[in-house]
Amino acid sequence: MNHISIEQKLISREEDVTPTVLRAMQNTTDARLKELVTSLVTHLHAFVGETRPTEAEFEYGLRWIAALGHHTNDFNNEVVLAADVLGISTLIDLINNDGMQGETMSALLGPFYRGAAPICASGDCIARSDTPGAGLYFTGRVTGVNGQPIADASLDVWQASPVGLYENQDETQDDFNLRGKFTTDADGRFHFVSVKPAGYPVPTDGPVGDLLRAQNREPMRPAHIHFIVSAPGHKTLITQIFADSLEALVGDVVFGAKKQIVGNFVRYDEPHPDYPGVAAPFFTCDYEFKLVEGTPCFPVPPISGKKG
Ligand SMILES: [Fe+2]
Repeated sequence: MNHISIEQKLISREEDVTPTVLRAMQNTTDARLKELVTSLVTHLHAFVGETRPTEAEFEYGLRWIAALGHHTNDFNNEVVLAADVLGISTLIDLINNDGMQGETMSALLGPFYRGAAPICASGDCIARSDTPGAGLYFTGRVTGVNGQPIADASLDVWQASPVGLYENQDETQDDFNLRGKFTTDADGRFHFVSVKPAGYPVPTDGPVGDLLRAQNREPMRPAHIHFIVSAPGHKTLITQIFADSLEALVGDVVFGAKKQIVGNFVRYDEPHPDYPGVAAPFFTCDYEFKLVEGTPCFPVPPISGKKG
């Protein structure tokens, strides 16, 4: 390495900044942290050098990032939402979960996972408060990638109401409405009763909403149900099963919809003996979740509470 005199270490030109900052970080102990932050700084400096922001633009950008924190609380996570609408979350998801071993494709955790959902028996209804809308009878099975059933697999389920609000956003819904945790039987099967979810706008009252409006983007997500599927000896699957039109899937503001995880929702206008406990009109959906062998790993819930 060329020797650098003490004078040369003093910044005097634009071109001096990046190598000086990288030198300052070169003794980082953790090799992966060093790799990540070195690359991040290099790319951020290149971005600044290319776009050459004014000081006013820089101040605005800093205020926007600070506002992500100011709009994050027990029942809203604006930081996760920002990563989602910028496509970063989907990129991370696909880098880490490519589905190439035959497992069900994953999808974003999203900002509304609370954790600690009520434990349910198979067949329970997760619409705990008066939740108007078409019913849903969801049947499912959890298997390995070769189709063998996985007994005692856990499914953490959460969804928006038919008006497009999660219970944490909606004072009219009971605590943990449309959330529940199910366990598969010896044949890997489970089922539950609910209401058909609606598509919904992501929260637009914070800095993410400001950005979406400036970009003339619709804030909509297609209708879906979230699942975290886990079993000992298997990689935890975080996914969403979609229930919406192709146009809505393509228009997903967080780029989360994938064709492999679109559910087959079938409408019934009359009661049916095969689907007890759900009033007509209702929909059915049957989905087989395939887990690949691996180590279970659970996400930290982005929120912990409920509004109101
Ligand atoms: Fe969602």
